[in-house]
Amino acid sequence: MEHNQHEVIAKWERRWLSASGLMSLSFVIFIAISLALEGTHIAQTTSRTTPDKLSSHALFANPGVTALGPGKFQVAAMAQMFNFIPAEIRLPVGAEVDFYLTSRDVLHGFQLENTNVNVEAIPGEISHFKYTFDKPGEYRISCNEYCGISHQNMVGKVVILSSAEFAQDAANRQADALTLAQSGNAGEAVFNANCASCHQATGLGLAAVFPPLVGHLPSVYNADGGRDYLVDTVLYGMQGQIKVDGASYNSVMPAWAQLSDDDLAAALNYALTAWGNDALLSNFTEYSPEEIAAKRGQSRTAADNYELRQSLGLE
Ligand code: CUA
Repeated sequence: MEHNQHEVIAKWERRWLSASGLMSLSFVIFIAISLALEGTHIAQTTSRTTPDKLSSHALFANPGVTALGPGKFQVAAMAQMFNFIPAEIRLPVGAEVDFYLTSRDVLHGFQLENTNVNVEAIPGEISHFKYTFDKPGEYRISCNEYCGISHQNMVGKVVILSSAEFAQDAANRQADALTLAQSGNAGEAVFNANCASCHQATGLGLAAVFPPLVGHLPSVYNADGGRDYLVDTVLYGMQGQIKVDGASYNSVMPAWAQLSDDDLAAALNYALTAWGNDALLSNFTEYSPEEIAAKRGQSRTAADNYELRQSLGLE
């Protein structure tokens, strides 16, 4: 009886062992096939940096598209809670692109729809990968690593244009930039490109996730010390639980020090005066780029700004 039981167990053990052996073998075969036939490759870490150095980094101080030669481009992209910088990458069809990718805060994903590009954005590391865009159209970028409360809203896109459209696009953008600068709407452009993914283009924020700026920003500005606090917030971020109109918010505003002094001043002036906010301000004078420049280079943190916010008597 005992001998018999032992044999039965040994028989099943052999079966399970060969089954798991076969499984491991098939995994290795799948990986080999994807490497050999599907063009799968592993993104390389080219160098290391730290998120606080990105604003002066050769690649990431001015993220976006750089032409390297005919049909060759370099794209420096950053991921952060909860958007990609730049949010939209425009390139001509046939573009051979060297991508450099990093994260400004936590681990994010960079998955490019309908391509084999699926790379992790890792804080402190710069990943390099190549891709050639043979077909015109829009390719969605999505974050496929859970990174926080608004992870599912973290998207961007690559737009591939015909060569003629791309040339026209470049001309249009130059003209637009000029018009915006002349009409004084530069702040709206900066706001929509950087701030609207959380606070929304309406300034109303997202319920329970991102606080509204409508009505709220003037009350911060009007508080004693509020004007300076807003500059600190855009330069160094803010993190902690706050209350606006009785509703609680507990998310992270990243630092925006990678934007220029002109852009930050323009975005603040825009958000403070848009959506009827201007009527709620007392003694408003526009921010100047010099005012932003004067507050750079400190070792402030998002947590310091939370304390500062509380000391202003704001909830
Ligand atoms: Cu970033 Cu999920």
